[in-house]
Amino acid sequence: MKVDIIAGARPNFVKIAPIIRALNNLETSRDVSYRLVHTGQHYDREMSGIFFEQLEIPEPDINLAVGSGSQAEQTAEIMKGYEKVLNENSSSVCVVVGDVNSSMACAITARKCGVPVAHVEAGIRSGDWAMPEEINRVVTDSISNWFYTTSKYANENLIHAGIESDRIFFVGNTMIDTLKYSEGRFFAPKICDELGLQPKEYLVMTMHRPSNVDSCSKLQQLLTAITSTSGKMPIIFPVHPRTLQNLGSSLDALDSLHPVQPVSYLEFNYLVKNSLGVITDSGGITEETTVMGVPCITLRDSTERPETVEIGTNELIGTDPERVSDAVSRLVSGSWKTGDVPPMWDGKTSARIVESLIKVV
Ligand code: UD1
Repeated sequence: MKVDIIAGARPNFVKIAPIIRALNNLETSRDVSYRLVHTGQHYDREMSGIFFEQLEIPEPDINLAVGSGSQAEQTAEIMKGYEKVLNENSSSVCVVVGDVNSSMACAITARKCGVPVAHVEAGIRSGDWAMPEEINRVVTDSISNWFYTTSKYANENLIHAGIESDRIFFVGNTMIDTLKYSEGRFFAPKICDELGLQPKEYLVMTMHRPSNVDSCSKLQQLLTAITSTSGKMPIIFPVHPRTLQNLGSSLDALDSLHPVQPVSYLEFNYLVKNSLGVITDSGGITEETTVMGVPCITLRDSTERPETVEIGTNELIGTDPERVSDAVSRLVSGSWKTGDVPPMWDGKTSARIVESLIKVV
């Protein structure tokens, strides 16, 4: 079996690292080889290179180096590049993870070149069609052959979409494989020393959804709602390149907010683990906070990961300033709900995926 592993953007790197480790752990008698294809959707050192180093991901065998562009440009460039790769040297299965443009583009290309597709983190749905990721999820799932899921909700969504149950495998969460594998190596970023941060005496914030950060006034409104309630509590804010474009002068008046460059995986999760709570519009981070038992405010109206709310420490707050202020005040006062870890999020998901691929491909 020749496996293509596709990765393009930051969250992908966290999800593929343990799958590659599981493939490397197979005995040679299993006759399985793999090829790592980096599309180049994320290319900065802080968004890509440092993740490869810290997560022990080998150098990509192929880098399509597509870089930035509009949704259509990026998707088209990835499809053109990956089609060429498959035409020159095909594979037995294309494994895509998550919901970024790279995942959808390679899934479509593989199927059209006659290569079956396995989708890891299949079946999750926010119901929010304004998210590019929701379209990527639906398209990818509509053409995948095998579906590896993180929750019972994802299984239900796939069944509802007409997928036969024998193609759906509830295996758990590869992001949590990486979290558990890396936990012992988390380390403090330099901002901790610079500000003298003490455990549970600061918040962490991330924001990068187009709906929150592509409008300056919306971004300013959110930042004001948060900082006007959090008082003097420092908020560490690693800023995504997309958000930086609109941040500009909004920060001047907000003393407690500490914007920093995007931080590496091991530093980011150190920050999260030791924080009093997290404020985010990411989906993946809500899974990590759930497993680490850290309170989490989600600045969105919907989530494709309902288990982080129903079982975990996450609450969907939306972006209405009053609701955001109320949630921040509950977070800062330490009166947040506690949670549990969802089933199968046990650090062994990737091994289950690889064993299953050997059977089904
Ligand atoms: C992408 C994913 C999103 C994921 C996020 C994590 C899609 C549709 N979105 O969003 O699901 O949560 O990654 O980070 O695939 N840029 C840089 N350096 C880089 C990469 C990007 O400066 O290394 C800039 C680009 O020029 C662009 C902006 O960041 O202006 C957005 O990049 P893009 O890959 O289009 O989408 P993300 O917002 O990162």
